[in-house]
Parts: sequence; C-alpha cells; structure tokens
Amino acid sequence: MASSPLHVVILAAGQGTRMRSQLPKVLQPVAGKPMLGHVLDTARQLNAKACHVVHGHGAGQVRAWFAQAHAGDKTVQWVLQAEQKGTAHAVLQALPGIPDTATVLILYGDVPLVRAATLEPLLAHKGVGVLTAVLPDAHGYGRIVRDADGAVASIVEEKDASAEQRAIREVNTGILVAPAKLLKRWVARIGNKNVKKEFYLTDVVAMAVRDGVQVHAHVAPEAVEVQGVNDPLQLAAAERALQLRQAGQLLAMGLQLRDPARFDLRGSLKFGADVVIDVGVVLEGEVVLDAGVYVGPYSVLRNVKIGAGTRIESHSVLDEATVGKNCRVGPFARLRPDTVLEDEAHIGNFVEVKKSRIGKGSKANHLAYVGDATVGAQVNLGAGTITCNYDGANKHQTIIEDDVFIGSDTQLVAPVKVGKGATIGAGSTITKEVPPGVLAVCRAKEQKHYSNWKRPVKRR
Ligand code: UD1
Ligand code: CA
Repeated sequence: MASSPLHVVILAAGQGTRMRSQLPKVLQPVAGKPMLGHVLDTARQLNAKACHVVHGHGAGQVRAWFAQAHAGDKTVQWVLQAEQKGTAHAVLQALPGIPDTATVLILYGDVPLVRAATLEPLLAHKGVGVLTAVLPDAHGYGRIVRDADGAVASIVEEKDASAEQRAIREVNTGILVAPAKLLKRWVARIGNKNVKKEFYLTDVVAMAVRDGVQVHAHVAPEAVEVQGVNDPLQLAAAERALQLRQAGQLLAMGLQLRDPARFDLRGSLKFGADVVIDVGVVLEGEVVLDAGVYVGPYSVLRNVKIGAGTRIESHSVLDEATVGKNCRVGPFARLRPDTVLEDEAHIGNFVEVKKSRIGKGSKANHLAYVGDATVGAQVNLGAGTITCNYDGANKHQTIIEDDVFIGSDTQLVAPVKVGKGATIGAGSTITKEVPPGVLAVCRAKEQKHYSNWKRPVKRR
C-alpha cells in the first residue's frame, strides 16, 4: 500500500464526562504531554500525509493548545463535529477532505499509548484492518465476531450483543484501516438502528465482508497499549504504563535508574555515561545530564542542564537553571529560573538562588537567599546570608567580587557591591559599597554584660 497516501483520522470530539475536569479529555496529559499530542506523534512516525482531527467538545482549547505546541505544523486539518452522533458520523465529517486514493487509519484521541510499530502490520495489507485486543475483562468494548473458519465476520457493540457474543474476549480497540474509496461508500450507508441510536463505525466490518473485501484482525501485543482513557483511574494507569516504557528505553540506553517504577519523565532527557538517578525523581521539560551526574532521591528538575560530575543531593528543586561541572547542590536546595552555577560551586541545604550567577568554586552551604546577584569565584557566603533584593516595589542587583568572605547572618541591602577580597563580619547589615580587601562590620558596637540580670521564672 506504499503507493497510497496515508491519511489519519483522529476521533477527539467526545466530552469525557467521567474525567470531571475543565480540561477537554484529549488535552489531559500523559507524561507531561496531552493525549492528543501522543497520537499526533504516532501519526507523524507513520509518515501520514495528513491528520484530520475530529473535534467538538472544548474545540477552542484544543486548537489553542495545538497552535502553541505545534506552531507551523501544516499536516493537521481540523474537522468540527458539533454534535456527537457516533464514531461513523465523526469519520463522515472528515471524509470529504480525504482523496479516494488514500488509505485511512482511524485513531482515537483518548488512546494515547498505541505505538507506530503496532500499527504498521495493519497498514501492510490491502483491504480492511482492525486492531483487536484479548482482554480478561471485555466489559464495555465491542466484540470481534469470527466465523467458523476464524475469519472476522463483524463487530458487535456490547449493548447490542447476545449473551454468547458477550462471552467473547477479543475486543475492538476502535483502531481501523480501510481504503478511502470503500470507506466513503460504506460510511455513507451506515444507519443508527441500534440500542444507542448512534452511527457505529464498526458496522463497516460486516459491510466489507458482504462486499467480499478481506478483513484482517491484528491482535495488539500488549493490552495496555490500546487501553482507552475515560476517567482519572485509567489516566493514571496510562501514565504509569508510559513511564515504565520510557524507563525501559532509558535503561537500555545506559541510564542507571535505581528503580524504574519510581521515576517520572515528563519531557525529554539527554544524558551522558554513568548518570545515576535515585528513586522518586521527577524530570520535566528538557533536561540534560552530562556524564557522571548523580540525582538524589525525590529531586525535581525542570528545564535544566547539569555539567559532568555534579551531584544533586536529595530533595532539591531545580527550575530553569544551568549547573556547571563538579558542583554540589542540596540536599534541600532550590535553584529558581535564570540561575547559573559555574564549575565546582556548592549550594547546600535550605539555600535558595534566583536569577543569579554563582562563580567558580563559590559556596553557599547553609540557609541563604541569593537573588538578582552576581557572585564571583571562590566566594564564601556564610549561613544566613541574605540579599535584600526587593524594596517592595523594585528588584535590585547585588555584586560580590572574587574571594569575598561573608560572615553568617549578613544582609546585603541591594543595590550594593562588595569588592574583591573583602570580608564581612557576621551579623552585618551592608547598605554601602564595600571596597576591595577591607573588613566591613556593621553591628552593635560593643558587647555588654549585665551581671545583676535575672531570668524570668514561671508563675506557679
Ligand atoms: C468504541 C467502539 C467499540 C470499541 C471501543 C474501544 C464504536 C461504535 N464502538 O466504543 O467497538 O470497543 O470504542 O474503546 O465505534 N467520538 C467522536 N464523535 C462521536 C462519537 C465518538 O469523536 O460522535 C470519539 C470519542 O471522543 C472517542 C471515540 O470516538 O475518542 C470513541 O467513542 P466512544 O463513544 O467512547 O465509543 P465506545 O462506546 O467506547
Ligand atoms: Ca470509549
């Protein structure tokens, strides 16, 4: 069928009432990407000439997502199905935009895990192909009815099935392939004389058999792949299945995941040799981990780049940050957007860094806030150092030059600059520029001792 252009129709008009969500069902995310996005990716992998997305509920939201996430994609055509009268009615709306010479593949917007490799055998035959699955519990699905020779005879919806037919375990996944010309002829003739008074696409199977067109049924290798998502429980099941699939692929590529069942990737990961990811880590967006990086338990990394040999200790949160080589971050550290750590920097527990550059080998090991700052190399920021970057209206910059030592519990009231090699005594509130090399101290002048002072005692 290689000569026949592939047109994919994605059915995505349904409401998804059981999700009980404001978000249209096909925009519900699996591994950080809307279900419809996964289905479009699969269509792309099959080199579809065009994708016709039949949409209805939440049409505005669906198209707004697409315009943003797939800007410039010209292969998608939007087909509005204002009223949902059944799967055949949905396909009927898309058919005028499909040439007679095409091969049509029907996919579902709420069946996000189906892989291109599972669909390829369906496309390899002439005639009609249906993807089926053998399930321990076939409840709710259309059943595949075969004749005495084992050839597919028809699909019967559960509501219309006899008791004998309901016992069949082979079900219709809904995914179907047919030549456009025949599909147009059949779909135009489908009626709604059934229990649900809907136009059933599944009727094309019996029509094909009647017209002497061969119907191939391919059983999906794993049922989870063709599982539809209708409610939060099924969404969670799809999420876990996809996470395990991704984890398996990453392990095969050499990533050392301490436990693939406790790892979540909601985006993409590039990694070097000997990267170790401990349990409970969540990666979002685009993450790059160079060789030898270690990510400790329960850390969250979103859109970050981490240099070789760096350790991110447990419970750290890094968001839009760039970290150099051989740095140490955490445990319990937070790097907020536009943070850059140069090589060998250390950011320790309960330290927050925002929109700042920390120079080579500099350290903020405990309990600090560094915001809107440029910190040079080999600087020591003592415990409790705070850049007072916000005056209630505007943000101001703090500049700390190389080799500065800042004593514990120092406030740097920005805008302010501390010159190269300066030392600041513990407990200082710095409001004026500190010249290079000096010791700056700003606290109560002398320590007083009151010898006749008595501690208060509890009243009985
Ligand atoms: C359908 C199949 C059934 C199969 C099951 C697999 C039919 C008649 N039945 O049943 O054999 O076992 O899927 O999950 O096809 N949709 C539209 N417009 C409509 C109706 C549906 O876009 O007018 C979309 C829905 O959003 C959904 C998909 O088509 O993504 C399936 O529709 P649904 O009504 O859920 O079909 P089922 O009853 O589950
Ligand atoms: Ca369904």
